[in-house]
Amino acid sequence: MSFQRAQAFLSPDYIIRAAAQPWELAGVRALRHQVFVEEQGIFDRDDRDDIDDIAMPLAAISTFAAEADQVVGTVRIHQEAPRIWRGSRLAVAQSHRRLGRLGAELIRLAVCTAHGRGCDRFMAHVQIQNVPLFKRLRWHPLREVELHGVLHMEMQADLSFYPPIPDPFAGWKALSPKRRSV
Ligand SMILES: CC(C)(COP(=O)(O)OP(=O)(O)OC[C@H]1O[C@@H](n2cnc3c(N)ncnc32)[C@H](O)[C@@H]1OP(=O)(O)O)[C@@H](O)C(=O)NCCC(=O)NCCS
Repeated sequence: MSFQRAQAFLSPDYIIRAAAQPWELAGVRALRHQVFVEEQGIFDRDDRDDIDDIAMPLAAISTFAAEADQVVGTVRIHQEAPRIWRGSRLAVAQSHRRLGRLGAELIRLAVCTAHGRGCDRFMAHVQIQNVPLFKRLRWHPLREVELHGVLHMEMQADLSFYPPIPDPFAGWKALSPKRRSV
C-alpha cells in the first residue's frame, strides 16, 4: 500500500484584469475584508473608504475547468492629482501567496493601466515587510510614513518598466510557476 501526501489542487491558470462583474466586485470586497480586517486587523469592521468611490478595482481570478472561478487577489488604483496615480489595498488570498506571480502581476496591471491613462508618477504606501518585493519590481523607496497605526514606505514605480496598456478589462492570463501543497 502506498501513501501519497495530499495535494491541494490549484489550477495554474489565472486571469488578471479589471473587476467589472458583480461577482468579481463582491469577491474583491470579501478578499479585502478577509485580509485587512480579519487577518491583519488594520481596520475594525470595514476597510472601505472614500477612495472606493473613484478607484478602479483590479483582480486576480483563479480558474476551474478553464473558466473564471474566484477572486484570489486584488488591488485598486486611482488618480489622486493630475497625472499622479496611486495603488492601494493590494491583497492576495493566503492560499495563493508566493505562487510566484499573483501579487507581481496585479502590480503590473495596476501600473501599466495608469500609464495607459496618462500617469506620470505612480505611488503606493507599501507595508514595510513588502518593500523587498516592490524593490524587485523596480519601485524606489521615498519616505517612511505611519498609516492606520502601521509603518509603511511611500514608494514610486519606475514607469519605464511598465509599458502602457489600453484596456485593463481585457487583461491577460498568467500561469503560476509554482503549485502549493498541503
Ligand atoms: C504582499 C502580497 C500581495 C504579495 O503577493 P504574492 O502573490 O504572495 O507575491 P508574488 O508571489 O507575486 O511575489 C513575487 C515574488 O516576490 C516574492 N515575495 C513576495 N512577497 C515578498 C515579500 N514580502 N518580501 C520579499 N519577497 C516577496 C515572492 O516569493 C516571489 O518570488 P519568486 O519570483 O522568486 O518566486 C501578499 O503577500 C499579501 O496579500 N499579503 C497580505 C496583504 C498585504 O500585506 N498587503 C499590503 C501590500 S503593501
